[in-house]
Amino acid sequence: MNALSPVPPAPVPAIEPPLALLAELTHRCPLQCPYCANPLEMERAASELDTAAWLRVLDEAAALGVLQVHFSGGEPTARKDLLELVRRAAAGGLYSNLITSGVTLDPAALAALADAGLDHVQLSFQDADATQADRIGGYRRGHARKLEVSRQIRDAGLPLTANFVVHRQNLERLPEMLALGEEIGASRIEIAHVQYYGWALVNRAALMPSRAQLERANEAVAEARERLRGRITIDYVVPDYYAARPKACMGGWARRIINITPAGLALPCHAAETLPGFQWPSVRTASLGAIWQDDPGFNRYRGTSWMPEPCRSCDQREVDWGGCRCQALAMTGDAGATDPACALSPHHFMMADAVADADAVAEGPAPALVYRRIRTAALVR
Ligand code: SF4
Ligand code: FES
Repeated sequence: MNALSPVPPAPVPAIEPPLALLAELTHRCPLQCPYCANPLEMERAASELDTAAWLRVLDEAAALGVLQVHFSGGEPTARKDLLELVRRAAAGGLYSNLITSGVTLDPAALAALADAGLDHVQLSFQDADATQADRIGGYRRGHARKLEVSRQIRDAGLPLTANFVVHRQNLERLPEMLALGEEIGASRIEIAHVQYYGWALVNRAALMPSRAQLERANEAVAEARERLRGRITIDYVVPDYYAARPKACMGGWARRIINITPAGLALPCHAAETLPGFQWPSVRTASLGAIWQDDPGFNRYRGTSWMPEPCRSCDQREVDWGGCRCQALAMTGDAGATDPACALSPHHFMMADAVADADAVAEGPAPALVYRRIRTAALVR
């Protein structure tokens, strides 16, 4: 190339489309789990996106190259238009998953959902013990309903994932939870430790397991994985507080998932509204594609160029993407800090302190749970 040749511009890395759309249809929910990750200020029904807006969002997602849609909440069956949304997702070629507490479902509703093209149901359980499950969920006879509904889901021909959120107050029954997942015919069992932001942070002292509890849980999962190999997939991630490296939260900021709140805000993760200084875009006024490509909030922590040390020069930076921004904010006050879950973070001692506190109180009675209440209605028809 001679001196007068134009210098070609540096290639701009292409932004891949999101793999999945997390459609939080509503914050309304009949249960009151004290570890709910929904924001402290929840949206009321009157401010939820209407059906036409959700249908447009689903069309835009399909056009953008999104492959999966997760209908979530709150309790997504509280939306009277759920069938219409499922139908539109199927028409656009989106694989659809319903994330539900199950207590509002029945055979007719499930048959209608299957007929509309629903591909999968993820049913949440609070425990394997009915009394404890109903206490944690704050819903009488909820566990018994879920057992019935799990059979009805299978009868409707829908594949089932059983989801168990685990913490100090139920972790001893993890072997029973794994057995329950097997008994109800789940093809996948997801064991999810509580993440401590949103309402869960209020209850951290009551929910955080001790190290000894966690070690027993790890053994139970290893044993079940061996026993169920080839039949049931078990998803399990050791909680951040006990890990030496953070998880790649959301698969990396604005890399894999786009989250839409009930009111229509687009977020890179379900807790992003806790981050100060961001003006999150709304799908009421911007397209999904424009938001994903151009929104400054989505680009703020995308990739690796925003990273401080030690992430900046770490060989794991494209594996965990620096961990979780919301956890970094909640613990250090700086969303741009290395996640304190990482042993290389200068703030890692905060995790160790929380673990030491949990170990110190592990033998005594757990502090009382703090519940919040929001009303819901409606059954899918
Ligand atoms: Fe991940 Fe950053 Fe820790 Fe490296 S320093 S392991 S990139 S969080
Ligand atoms: Fe927001 Fe992890 S929950 S980045």
